[in-house]
Amino acid sequence: MAPNKQKKYDNPFSATLTGIMDLFRKQVPAGELKPTDRLDGKTVLVDGASSGLGFAIAIDVARRGARVIMACRSGIPGQGEKVKKLSGNQDVHMLHVDFADINSIKSLVKNLSASTQAGSMAKIDILICNAGIVPKQSRKTLQGLEEMFMVNYFSKFIFVNLLIGNRCFSDSGTENLKPMIPRIIFVASESHRNPEKFEWVNFGKYQDYTIGKSIELYGYYKLLLTTFSVELSRRLNPGSTTNYSVFSLCPGPVNSNIAREAPKVFIPLLKLVFGIFFKSPANAAIPVVYLAASGDVEEKPFDYLFLMSRKAVDEKAADPGNGKQLWTMSEELWRKTDRYGLQ
Ligand SMILES: NC(=O)c1ccc[n+]([C@@H]2O[C@H](COP(=O)([O-])OP(=O)(O)OC[C@H]3O[C@@H](n4cnc5c(N)ncnc54)[C@H](OP(=O)(O)O)[C@@H]3O)[C@@H](O)[C@H]2O)c1
Repeated sequence: MAPNKQKKYDNPFSATLTGIMDLFRKQVPAGELKPTDRLDGKTVLVDGASSGLGFAIAIDVARRGARVIMACRSGIPGQGEKVKKLSGNQDVHMLHVDFADINSIKSLVKNLSASTQAGSMAKIDILICNAGIVPKQSRKTLQGLEEMFMVNYFSKFIFVNLLIGNRCFSDSGTENLKPMIPRIIFVASESHRNPEKFEWVNFGKYQDYTIGKSIELYGYYKLLLTTFSVELSRRLNPGSTTNYSVFSLCPGPVNSNIAREAPKVFIPLLKLVFGIFFKSPANAAIPVVYLAASGDVEEKPFDYLFLMSRKAVDEKAADPGNGKQLWTMSEELWRKTDRYGLQ
């Protein structure tokens, strides 16, 4: 594990306090999400949409007229029905995925690819990679990886690469039928700044930990995710034309179910603190929906927001050498853990 120098997100208490303090820091908004930022005719896939932030994002984009695909592990079909009811939009669909299992991700992409090729489902215009966990302890996945590593980072590397490889995104610039450049949005966290360095020797290796280490590792996996987002934009947009917009953001502290695995004795206190100080999921969804729907960010190859403020990502995540190393190691790990490799 990478040692920390800032110690802001080391444990549940300092992480909660940092989240609260961040809300009171002066912000210069990058722009404004307007009621006129509509998504009519656009297909938005949001994952982890059964709860918290993802559920609120699904409602907001549905209200803006999008066809919504909620890729979820649980809550099917109930949460989708709620989104329909709360948004008044019936064009909401739910698909199952467990991001802890590579085979489940592959099934989802197969399903999406078959539906788009058959014409029963439009291609994806906006992908919102939102699912995430803070587990109370390490858990091994079916493929022998650590669950938080898998859900919070590695599943996104596999999912996005499979979607691109299987041509699931709308084709930008072809016959101007869908002039919007596809957008890929990652829900990351400011805690990505916490780790001091990458631990390449231990990359992808299963390691045991308990709740004390969980928050520290959470920041490390968000660093991997943020580094991936920058590298993805570099690879998808090699010249001066933007082929895909890749966005990443920290929504700030959200009153969601993220602390569901916290020790039982702390749950009433956490609920109280979250309820008083943290943002409601609907408010926290605003920067995500801004990146999904606003014309302000059109044709941008990359952007990172903290709440509504534009920020540079941590220099470790921006470093092309780290991006390349992460990509190479992720591909290698994928080959090792998936019998059929990269397809
Ligand atoms: N809450 C915060 O203060 C905060 C701050 C910064 C960033 N974030 C990020 O915001 C994102 C959303 O989290 P949240 O706060 O809304 O928490 P949440 O209410 O716990 O929602 C997490 C979502 O991820 C899904 N998920 C978890 N494991 C999954 C798996 N194996 N396969 C598929 N889906 C899975 C959950 O599905 P189930 O309901 O089926 O478990 C749920 O829909 C996360 O990436 C988190 O890191 C949160």
